[in-house]
Amino acid sequence: MMHSVTCIAPVNIAVIKYWGKREEDLILPLNDSVSATLSTDHLCTKTTVTTSESFVENKILLNGKEESFSNPRLLRCLEELRKRGETANRCNPEILNWKIHVNTENNFPTAAGLASSASGYACLVYAISCLYGIEKDEISSIARQGSGSACRSLYSGFVQWQKGTLPDGSDSIAVQLADHTFWPEMRILILVVNDSRKKTSSTGGMSTSVKTSKLLKYRVETCVPQHTKDLIKALYEKNFENFGKITMQDSNQFHAVCLDTYPPCVYMNDVSHAIVNMVHQFNERKGGIRVAYTFDAGPNACLYLLENDVNDVLATINHVFPNDIWSSPDYIKGISIGKIALPQVDQYFVSNGQNLLKYIIYTKVGEGPKRIE
Ligand code: PMV
Repeated sequence: MMHSVTCIAPVNIAVIKYWGKREEDLILPLNDSVSATLSTDHLCTKTTVTTSESFVENKILLNGKEESFSNPRLLRCLEELRKRGETANRCNPEILNWKIHVNTENNFPTAAGLASSASGYACLVYAISCLYGIEKDEISSIARQGSGSACRSLYSGFVQWQKGTLPDGSDSIAVQLADHTFWPEMRILILVVNDSRKKTSSTGGMSTSVKTSKLLKYRVETCVPQHTKDLIKALYEKNFENFGKITMQDSNQFHAVCLDTYPPCVYMNDVSHAIVNMVHQFNERKGGIRVAYTFDAGPNACLYLLENDVNDVLATINHVFPNDIWSSPDYIKGISIGKIALPQVDQYFVSNGQNLLKYIIYTKVGEGPKRIE
């Protein structure tokens, strides 16, 4: 006897950042966060979970390489799913005791430095929930225990992770604000920055921030509640001007907290700051906010913009960050930009030097996890 399920799950990029836990084991955050789920056409994790009476141990293959199953977060997710499966009582209870084999891969290069833990844990937890007959709305607090931001990857469109107040974390869950069809013009450009620096993990970084940053306290108590309220309003009104401004301000404040951490966590580099400058110059030239940046715990930029502005923004990027492989199909991945002629950029924008970006991913807001076979 053998059961097998294959699923895909999306990456999400926060516009209001999660940074800081109030409880480390259950992964309970100090503040709410909001993200957009990105299309699985261009970035996703694909996971197959197989369970059989004959398996003697749990196994996990990550991008073709066997990893240890003794990771406490992985074990906790599995334990929680088994408990939930038992209560749900929608599968043969025997299978809940069988060992599992997990085969998981990302369709985007791990070297890109994009958060793959969110799509990874969302996909794993979703696939096992399909196997054990658990409803999607019951697994948010389980995915959260794999990687906090993973709970937001369970839904399409725009998602809020509500921090909750209960000590057991049962109300610290993701809720959908609007699905992926709500703002169909919304686009995302991920600028993958050439970088070889060793990274500080988000877990380590945020734990040091909680212990040492005074600014973090002000951020979680005063700023994030206001940012969240204003961002949700801007989203529902489809007001890009406000959506973009809050997104940039929240990202800047998150990185200010990182610098206020002792010793500081430095995630953005010179190229990241040059991207920030380019975005502000572009918006100034246009007389309003047409494109917004946000940076996670790394130097890569994620730009939010509307479809109408994509050509102009790409032309500006080409001018400010010229690249030898600009016209190669491998440079701009994702949605095809076809043969559209890039408009001329005025000399107001200054070039920063050749090949500072590795490549660009052009994508849009997309759907949540799906069972595929
Ligand atoms: O879920 P984690 O532990 O990978 O933390 C994610 C932290 C940020 O990406 C920096 C912000 C966020 O809300 O995604």
